[in-house]
Amino acid sequence: MPRESRKSPQVVAHVAVSLEGATTGFQPDLGTFYELAGTFGEDVTLVGADTILAQESTLATAPRPGPAQGGPLLAVVDGKARVSEWDALREVGHWSDVLALHCESTPPRPPERHVREVVMGRERVDLAAAIEELGRLAQAEHIRVDSGGALLAALLRGHLLDEVSLLVHPVLVGGNDAKFWYGTRSGQAAVDFELIADESLGGGLVWLRYRPRNQATTGE
Ligand SMILES: NC(=O)c1ccc[n+]([C@@H]2O[C@H](COP(=O)([O-])OP(=O)(O)OC[C@H]3O[C@@H](n4cnc5c(N)ncnc54)[C@H](OP(=O)(O)O)[C@@H]3O)[C@@H](O)[C@H]2O)c1
Repeated sequence: MPRESRKSPQVVAHVAVSLEGATTGFQPDLGTFYELAGTFGEDVTLVGADTILAQESTLATAPRPGPAQGGPLLAVVDGKARVSEWDALREVGHWSDVLALHCESTPPRPPERHVREVVMGRERVDLAAAIEELGRLAQAEHIRVDSGGALLAALLRGHLLDEVSLLVHPVLVGGNDAKFWYGTRSGQAAVDFELIADESLGGGLVWLRYRPRNQATTGE
């Protein structure tokens, strides 16, 4: 069923990227990034486990003002139950509560762990079903994805994104030894996009908002 004809939450991925589209390997302008992120008015922040793990050491010593009243719910895709700092995530002051998204093959969780969980999918978290469930559980109308390339790729493959919002930074990461710019040789782009907004923000930053074309079916 086309996403537009379902009463699904709108899913926006807001990503800081380098000129070649890398999501890591450079220092993003976090002030601008989160100022723009705030314009999406998300009910749910959807984050991958590796993004959380990359922040866990900082999180462990961060101030804990407590849950943000009226703030979004943090939902973490954590199929392998690798995230442990659930209490810190709940209390760090960005989110009203936290939710673990697991699947049937997720290893057993410690009994003393206090976090709501939703189990969707067998080998991996079924992202389409999880988004529908977030819409139902949290009555979410707007989900903002905050993740790196792995979760973004899975969401794009599943036609689960309504918008990709890029904060383009004027840097080349050049992480590939052979080529600074990378891609495949198939001549066939994986996804086509329609530009819906563009804004130059100064300091070389550009904000680009795109809607994926041909949002035909989910789970192809
Ligand atoms: N530039 C930016 O705007 C930005 C934003 C956020 C994060 N980051 C950076 O990006 C890096 C992490 O990015 P990442 O891409 O490695 O990790 P990620 O965004 O955290 O994505 C990995 C998560 O996606 C899940 N996943 C991947 N494919 C899936 C599929 N087909 N079905 C279901 N779940 C799937 C994984 O599940 P399992 O746990 O089950 O494997 C894992 O939880 C960090 O360094 C972080 O700092 C950058």
